[in-house]
Amino acid sequence: MGIAVIGFGWMGQAHSRSYLRIPTLFADRPATPELVVCADSVPARGEEAVRSFGFVRSTTDPAVAIEDPDVDVVVVAAPNMLHEELCVAAAAAGKHVFCEKPVGGTPDQTARVEKAARAAGVITGVGYNYRWAPLVMYARQLIEAGALGEITNYRGRFFSMYGADPLGLLSWRFDHDGAGYGVSSDILSHVMDLAMMLNGPIAEVCGLSETFIKERPLPRPGEGTHYDRGRPGDPTGPVTNEDYAGCFARFENGSIGNFESSRAIVGPQSQMAFEIYGTKGSIMWNLETMNEMQIFLTDATDNLHDGYTTVYAGDRYPYHGAFVPGDANAIGYEDLKVIEDLNFLSAVVSGVQHQPGFAEALAYVSVQSALIRSWQSGSWEKVDSVRID
Ligand SMILES: NC(=O)c1ccc[n+]([C@@H]2O[C@H](COP(=O)([O-])OP(=O)(O)OC[C@H]3O[C@@H](n4cnc5c(N)ncnc54)[C@H](O)[C@@H]3O)[C@@H](O)[C@H]2O)c1
Repeated sequence: MGIAVIGFGWMGQAHSRSYLRIPTLFADRPATPELVVCADSVPARGEEAVRSFGFVRSTTDPAVAIEDPDVDVVVVAAPNMLHEELCVAAAAAGKHVFCEKPVGGTPDQTARVEKAARAAGVITGVGYNYRWAPLVMYARQLIEAGALGEITNYRGRFFSMYGADPLGLLSWRFDHDGAGYGVSSDILSHVMDLAMMLNGPIAEVCGLSETFIKERPLPRPGEGTHYDRGRPGDPTGPVTNEDYAGCFARFENGSIGNFESSRAIVGPQSQMAFEIYGTKGSIMWNLETMNEMQIFLTDATDNLHDGYTTVYAGDRYPYHGAFVPGDANAIGYEDLKVIEDLNFLSAVVSGVQHQPGFAEALAYVSVQSALIRSWQSGSWEKVDSVRID
């Protein structure tokens, strides 16, 4: 299975490592991936992809990678506002497309990408990787089996410190021309995708957004990620998308949701977390301790010894044993990308659409679209599917 990777930063490298590891972890894999071509606008990154990752060739022109006859799958890991052009071109070339979240920087872009993929009939995937944490998969099984009873309320948050330092560079994530929307696209998307996977569609939202740090030091062109720092006195530019996005929500099943995301918060470092409460139990999970989950089940406790049980990840849970055997031997962030890419390969081989694909990306931006309307109206807004025609 020939792979092209477009954008060789954090995510492009993570997917490339993941495709390299699949043959070493899964003897019964659906296909053996081959890293064919890496496209990055910075030539040194493509050269590094060939030298250290074993890509056959590199280019600075994504069109060359997309049109390469040896390529079956295009992985789009470039900044958000480039997703539409790259995904539409890949679909038009008949290539299966895995795009990092959020698939476009605005809801309209996501809709155009889904339309192009549907028209081309290609398999699509999107990088909502927290779905693949073994304990999250177990939580999903418990919820679907009714172990929590009727769901009453759900809390989701992604609090990250990546933008908390005012000296953090004005990289593409803080710029509407590079990223589109801010945290509502970047990290609230993960939170709400997981919420909808675990608790179904969201019917209406009422929310707020804020930009706390209005100016940041400018990076040199083509350099600097959201983890890099400038110096006091460096020239600055305006931040043009939101640092914070949050809302109350009502799910279609009647339960209540409460969501927050911030990239400019001091304390929580990468707190992508959910709590789900039902009439018979509840579950809490947090990426910062992704190999642990707190479970409270009224059926499993008595009046004298009730309380949350800490469950440690281990090879009893889905996919965990492929990485490490036994109980409480931890797996890590990039292992989730391996599970994600393995499942995407399976979908391509079987021809059965992958989940999450562009349809799930569209489901989230439909909620985001209502949220953006709510920022403007100050009112509750109904979630209507963003139209794709
Ligand atoms: N799933 C996740 O948890 C997760 C985590 C981080 C990022 N992401 C997503 O991955 C994507 C990339 O983010 P990142 O953090 O890897 O960014 P990054 O800044 O680390 O890397 C982006 C890369 O794209 C390259 N690039 C820029 N313009 C290009 C062009 N025209 N053609 C080819 N390459 C180009 C840059 O040179 C850079 O190497 C974003 O959509 C982001 O939302 C997802």
